[in-house]
Amino acid sequence: MSDASTLATDIMAAARAVGAVKIYGSGETEVRALAGVDITFEQGKFTAIMGPSGSGKSTLMHCMAALDNLTEGQAYIGDTDLSTLTDKELTMLRRDRVGFIFQAFNLVPTLNAIENITLPMDLAKRQPDQEWVDNVIATVGLSDRLTHRPNELSGGQQQRVAVSRALASQPEIIFADEPTGNLDSRSGNDVLKFMRDAVDDLGQTIVMVTHDAKAASYADRTVFLADGLLQGEMLNPTAEQILDYMKILQVGQFVRAIQEGATMEEVLEYMKDLDD
Ligand SMILES: Nc1ncnc2c1ncn2[C@@H]1O[C@H](COP(=O)(O)OP(=O)(O)OP(=O)(O)O)[C@@H](O)[C@H]1O
Ligand SMILES: [Mg+2]
Repeated sequence: MSDASTLATDIMAAARAVGAVKIYGSGETEVRALAGVDITFEQGKFTAIMGPSGSGKSTLMHCMAALDNLTEGQAYIGDTDLSTLTDKELTMLRRDRVGFIFQAFNLVPTLNAIENITLPMDLAKRQPDQEWVDNVIATVGLSDRLTHRPNELSGGQQQRVAVSRALASQPEIIFADEPTGNLDSRSGNDVLKFMRDAVDDLGQTIVMVTHDAKAASYADRTVFLADGLLQGEMLNPTAEQILDYMKILQVGQFVRAIQEGATMEEVLEYMKDLDD
């Protein structure tokens, strides 16, 4: 596994986390969602984050995108340490420098598709690059749905609006939380290809959470999280290599759980949860 502190000195970092800890709640109900994560997301690269449900993937993305704050450690967008910013500065950073595609896409119900797509730029009073916006819309196949409101769109179409919205303003970095999770495989592949092209042709930086090894194989790099910790990473893996690696990680968790005194029944129950 690469060491984030060495990596950060010889690559251009679009975003990075240093010693990232996030604790929700306190006492009995305390959850350590991130237990000390060091990671750098290189500029102009497509990174996938994988890991079991509850491993801290969404938490990491939210804290890095200035949607939530860390309990300990630092999150940077470019050279900006998010913990040094005022609320107003955080709002501006989220609006101008970061794109986010949520796990549950959140479109504004009263705006139609094209208004949702250009909303961040309208708020920032920035003129969209019309050619680019048209290209985004055509590629995700939304040209004939632009005047429909979210409740008049299918789930897959709504997600394509959310992806277009993040890509349209060409932010420094896009965080996408399972952007293809509820698309059929053909729309999903179109969106993934589109994200890949945005990275290759325009130097867009994208970080994407996914449960799907095939989706992750579109990325330049796949990192694995479990129990709020980075477990390893692969460069340009195939879907098959990713699946193999995940099996190895599961065996590792299996062995650790037994060492920590779990019964075989408990471990099997736990492994079943991981598969779901
Ligand atoms: N607002 C919150 N309050 C308390 N606990 C939370 C909160 N958000 C997340 N958690 C807990 O933190 C841990 C990590 O959650 P997170 O949403 O980051 O997981 P995830 O890897 O994105 O999972 P999934 O694949 O299911 O989306 C989980 O145990 C979750 O229950
Ligand atoms: Mg999540």
